[in-house]
Amino acid sequence: MKRGRPQTARLRIRIDRESKAPIYQQIAERIRNLIEDNELKEGDRLPPVRTLAEGLGLNRNTVSLAYREMESIGLVQSSVGRGTFVRIRRPDGLAVSAVKREGPMDWARAVSRRSAGRGEVLERLAMGDGVGRIELTGAVADRDLFPVDEFREVLEEVVREMGASVLDYGSREGYLPLRKWLAERLTRQGTAVGANDVFILNGAQPGLDLVGKLLIDEGDAVAVESPTYYNAIGAFRLYGAELAGVPMDGEGLLPSALEETFARRPVKLLYCMPTFQNPTGVSMSRARREAVLDLARRRSVAILEDTFDADLRYRGKEEISLRGLPGGEDVLLLGTFSKILFPGLRLGWLVAPAPLHEAIGRIRRSTDLAAGLLAQAAIHRFCEKGLLDSHLERVRAVNRRRLRVLVESMAERFPPDVKWTEPDGGMSLWVTLPPRVDAVEVLLEARRLGVNFTPGPLFHADGGGGNAFRLSFTLEKEERIAEGVRVLGGLLEEKCRKRRSARDDAPSVFL
Ligand SMILES: Cc1ncc(COP(=O)(O)O)c(C=O)c1O
Repeated sequence: MKRGRPQTARLRIRIDRESKAPIYQQIAERIRNLIEDNELKEGDRLPPVRTLAEGLGLNRNTVSLAYREMESIGLVQSSVGRGTFVRIRRPDGLAVSAVKREGPMDWARAVSRRSAGRGEVLERLAMGDGVGRIELTGAVADRDLFPVDEFREVLEEVVREMGASVLDYGSREGYLPLRKWLAERLTRQGTAVGANDVFILNGAQPGLDLVGKLLIDEGDAVAVESPTYYNAIGAFRLYGAELAGVPMDGEGLLPSALEETFARRPVKLLYCMPTFQNPTGVSMSRARREAVLDLARRRSVAILEDTFDADLRYRGKEEISLRGLPGGEDVLLLGTFSKILFPGLRLGWLVAPAPLHEAIGRIRRSTDLAAGLLAQAAIHRFCEKGLLDSHLERVRAVNRRRLRVLVESMAERFPPDVKWTEPDGGMSLWVTLPPRVDAVEVLLEARRLGVNFTPGPLFHADGGGGNAFRLSFTLEKEERIAEGVRVLGGLLEEKCRKRRSARDDAPSVFL
């Protein structure tokens, strides 16, 4: 970084309110472009947050978020009391200032380019941070419903009965009785699989990582629903995937759009959540499932079907998984105990066709060896005793009420030009604002008023989602959900009214 008196950069930034990209991202992108075009140089000082915010007619928090986002990917560096300065990255990924400097380890220089992701600041913002906000964020179960006593009993039982053997390494594929139990359960639900095809993993997230290692080579195209689960975007990108977002409607992935995506370039993998999709809560109809399966088969595209919350149905009839449909034998099916029992056990499963078994074993040898045996044995005992089914009954009843309260409160409190999905199950629904209302700006204000949700841009692999957000309803009690919606309703009313009366052009500034 330059010593002496740094120049404050002159920036020309124009905010496009019609854009699908959120405003904070537009600012970050614009500054990134200026750096790439060499108009901003190493050591240049960015205008103070307040100056830029006033010039653009924005909330200071929005500009501050843009600066934090750029800092998290190493484009700028903030120094308390001095300001925010540009750091140039050379084509090999090293920041110029990092190369010049000697002294203590510079981790910004050391981390791989792939692991320096985007959107991290937004994700951190959306995570519950335990300060008492109403958390309509995070697809997570309510701990008050965890069957702790029942679990303690089965845990003691398996340790007493199995002794040291349950504390040893387990088999790479997983604890056989649990694999059998899962295979039988899936078969009863219409997805006929054998225990040999079931691998027990340390959660579903490691399953996304495993499939990344298994199928993705640098530059391979992976099609995902748009919007999709944000940690899947990150997982596939770690292996160099290029993601193609495929639009959805109220019945899930649009076959015509999927066909176009497949025709545009060879696609290696389609990742989708046909039941209670994250983040929209939308489920694919049977006809839609068949169409998606057929399209993928005709183009030899592998499918990874994530069923993370498919057991959380509150109304309507069960749909067969893609894996269970005729012709679905090659679908990789991912599931987890995190949403139906406890996430802390870190247990999930992957159903994979036989030709992949050897490669999966090889990858696990160099990744995690196996899932924790004690957790597997305890969960198996818990399930075998019928305790999962009775727990699920309870959870479904509670979540059904919470979803109803959420939807009813929204109908009462949200302005008429705000739209949302009404899922039959799952953990969240998707809210779409009028085009010129920025969800991240709403979030920043909502957080000040004590309500948190997950903003749309996080769920988009290739831009978009600026005017949308996810509301989750499984964590908070009914009264708090209603209160959260009341607060959001007031904010949205104000934002929508302002947008309706705003003149066409947002100010553009030259600072
Ligand atoms: C769609 C989806 N897949 C996978 C996961 C990961 O779950 P696990 O806790 O089993 O790793 C999540 C967690 O939120 C999710 O939403």
